[in-house]
Amino acid sequence: MPAPEIALTERFQSAFAAAFGPEYADADPIIRPSQFADFQCNAAMGLAKRLGRKPRDIAADILAAVDLEDIAEAPEIAGPGFLNIRLRTGWIAAQAGRLSEDPLLGAPVPERAETVVVDYSAPNVAKEMHVGHLRTTVVGDSIARTLEKLGHTVIRQNHIGDWGTPFGMLIEHLLEVGEDSAEAELLKTDPNAFYQAARAKFDAGGDFAARARRRVATLQSGDGESLRIWTDLVELSKQYFHRVYDMLGATLTDADLAGESTYNPLLEIVCKDLEADGIARISDGALCVFPEGFTGRDEQPLPLIVRKSDGGYGYATTDLAAVRHRVRDLGADRIAYVVGTAQELHFQMVFTAAREAGWLPEEVEATHVKIGSVLGEDGKILRTRSGASLRLLALLEEAVAAARTVIDELRPDLPEQERAQIAHDIGIGGVKYADLSTAHDSDYTFDLDRMLALTGNTAPYLQYAVARIRSIGRKAEAQGIVAATAPRVENDAERALALQLLDFGPTLAQAGAAYEPHRLCAYLFSLAQAFTSFYDASPILKESDEGLRAGRLALAQLTEKVLVEGLDALGVNAPQQM
Ligand code: ARG
Repeated sequence: MPAPEIALTERFQSAFAAAFGPEYADADPIIRPSQFADFQCNAAMGLAKRLGRKPRDIAADILAAVDLEDIAEAPEIAGPGFLNIRLRTGWIAAQAGRLSEDPLLGAPVPERAETVVVDYSAPNVAKEMHVGHLRTTVVGDSIARTLEKLGHTVIRQNHIGDWGTPFGMLIEHLLEVGEDSAEAELLKTDPNAFYQAARAKFDAGGDFAARARRRVATLQSGDGESLRIWTDLVELSKQYFHRVYDMLGATLTDADLAGESTYNPLLEIVCKDLEADGIARISDGALCVFPEGFTGRDEQPLPLIVRKSDGGYGYATTDLAAVRHRVRDLGADRIAYVVGTAQELHFQMVFTAAREAGWLPEEVEATHVKIGSVLGEDGKILRTRSGASLRLLALLEEAVAAARTVIDELRPDLPEQERAQIAHDIGIGGVKYADLSTAHDSDYTFDLDRMLALTGNTAPYLQYAVARIRSIGRKAEAQGIVAATAPRVENDAERALALQLLDFGPTLAQAGAAYEPHRLCAYLFSLAQAFTSFYDASPILKESDEGLRAGRLALAQLTEKVLVEGLDALGVNAPQQM
């Protein structure tokens, strides 16, 4: 592992053990980047408390015990007891050299690969599909990609809403308009519009509403004709999902579909087991779990209803069946649920109930990766635009069209087809990156101009950085300049860039462990900035010293690799040129 923080941590921990005793061997040396040196060790203050001594004395003891000879210059004590560390340039260069030979680019290899179930995207068949689903798709996909790069086994689960009472009205509507009609086509292009039409008829009451209600019952009793139309409905919707996924470059396939309906055959037994184990009991005719620690108004225990008084099962029952399946059959070590913030209480209750039932053992971590809202310019949830329903595909097409004007201006010389491809990468990348660079539980405003800007923490800025390095590479090749095997690290800008590069592995690991793609975005943004400073200070092709030129080219190309790999973990494509 080339990361300096890790190397320094090891050295400091041996020093703690030597200076203060073996029980200090795993004290955190608190290594942080510093504006006064490359890093600072901030451990003295905490250790001083533990040892009941003065921080500066502790710092002196650490200094006497620590061996950083090959890594850094002798540290200096500053302020109350900070240790300022300046790494040896030669050490950084050697680490960068190792990094450029590492196919994983410094990503850690796990001691034991984990099986991680990532539940994400999960739109609803012919129900209001909103821009929130775009976000659960984009964030979940990046989490899945990141964990795979970290050597884990990822099982994607697309828990689509393909069951429940709305299907009565949807089936009746489909029957009425005809399965081959233009209205049915809407399921493939704008399911929301299909849903709204069915809903309007249902709300008008009368005969349609009565038929819709009857249809729910016949469907749930397993009636062949109802199931056939239901299958058709789901099939049409899947085509729509896949169009969105293709457009987005999401890694979800049909094999990852595990919709609510898949758990149907298990719901009865789930309820039976919960009741038999005394986890659930009948309350007001409904079978409920009262998970420990959840109270509603008047401090009354809050029920998680697993079987309604009419015998029907709901969202919670399905999720309990899903947890059990994921742990027992899929062998999950961790489960991440990438779902809107609004469902926080649901998941907390489901997780607690599943733990009480013994279906989610303590050692299996379950996390609700809360997804914030996408807002319109008016600060309200982006749902409709000028009253009409917001089509997700139209939104993405608009992003690509806007990116097209950017690239047309930037590179009118490129052939039409190539500009179209680049516009796609920039437009889609821009939208995805805006999602990913915001903390997943924060809201953000959908603002195409900002998403597609060539400056700031945006996809186009990073894509442009990659394109620039690739252009240098092409010119170098044309001039017969070959990159050195190891990057050259000498001046300050080169040091700073190399240090950034060494941070890729740890950052990826952090982003994967905490399910926080925005950390990776922030990292890539500073990396691209460090590259810009480097390129300003250290000319490559214009450099007359051959060794220097080749060494800098190697540093630039290592930067390209890391940027491309990082963008790939986000699911953002980097065009060859821009
Ligand atoms: N279909 C749900 C929705 O649109 C999300 C499902 C999330 N996953 C889960 N296991 N409940 O809100």
